[in-house]
Amino acid sequence: MSTFPTHRPRRLRQSPAMRRLVAEHTLSASALILPVFVTERAEPQPIATMPGVRQETLDTLPAVVDAAADAGIGGIMLFGVPLTRDATGSGATEPDGILNRAIRVAARASAGRLTVQADLCLDEFTDHGHCGVLDAHGGVDNDATLARYADMALAQAEAGAEILGLSGMMDGQVAAVRAALDAAGRDDVVLLAYSAKYASAFYGPFRDAVESTLVGDRKTYQLDPANAREGVLEATIDIQEGADIVMVKPAGPYLDVLSEVAARSSVPVWAYQVSGEYAMIELAAAAGAIDRDRAIMESVLGIRRAGADAILTYWALEIAARLRSAH
Ligand code: PBG
Repeated sequence: MSTFPTHRPRRLRQSPAMRRLVAEHTLSASALILPVFVTERAEPQPIATMPGVRQETLDTLPAVVDAAADAGIGGIMLFGVPLTRDATGSGATEPDGILNRAIRVAARASAGRLTVQADLCLDEFTDHGHCGVLDAHGGVDNDATLARYADMALAQAEAGAEILGLSGMMDGQVAAVRAALDAAGRDDVVLLAYSAKYASAFYGPFRDAVESTLVGDRKTYQLDPANAREGVLEATIDIQEGADIVMVKPAGPYLDVLSEVAARSSVPVWAYQVSGEYAMIELAAAAGAIDRDRAIMESVLGIRRAGADAILTYWALEIAARLRSAH
């Protein structure tokens, strides 16, 4: 009888059935959320830097909602792409602004089969592209922006959004939005706080997707990639302010932050696999550098392993279909 090696971890890796049996983490469709862009133009528009993703229209959106419901995913996160923008982002609070119209269309199409979520931020609606309104010196005015977010939340809730994704990174945004909703009798609306949202190069393709007008960067409000502790602080503050769910974003480059937030959080923790993470894998695969399907599954499983309860990913439908065919 051989006595060496005394430990043989490979025993549990010897067959697909054995590996499946001892898998520590799994993905499920119900914990995937699909981000969806909705344009005000008449026709769907391709997004050059995100092969396989397009801007939907109000007319094509119901089919996406149907496909998402059929796939069994947990929800869709809506982004509006307006044709006109102004200094205060008026389109965000007008009931017939593109995002509020899209929420209405999606809520009707969904009929409760999945959750309808909306990005709550001004950047798609401002002509300067910042996530808030500007002060006299061109800086982002935190507290004036909170008033706009409160109005935006009411408009989104009124349109039928069940979960509001607060992605603007203003101080006090969760408390301000919660107070406004509660005062309007909307204590049912769920707040997803993009708590640890980093000033990231990986949002590059998203800026294409929403035709962003931003010049400069968001470093005075989004987190510095050098800081992990600060990401945990932001999540802690957001939970104190009443966030129902907290999020870390981007996901892949910030798995340490995700893991730390997940270990300490008293509420669900989500992660957003952002446009640049999507584009990296799609473009590397198109160049023949990596196996696309395996890289997709590995990247999302890694986010899950780090502690995400649910994941926003542009591959949500594809992954859900693959999980289904694997059974
Ligand atoms: C802000 C917002 C952004 C993303 C989601 N919400 C852009 C930003 O902060 O610059 C990025 C998502 C992605 O890159 O996929 N409205």
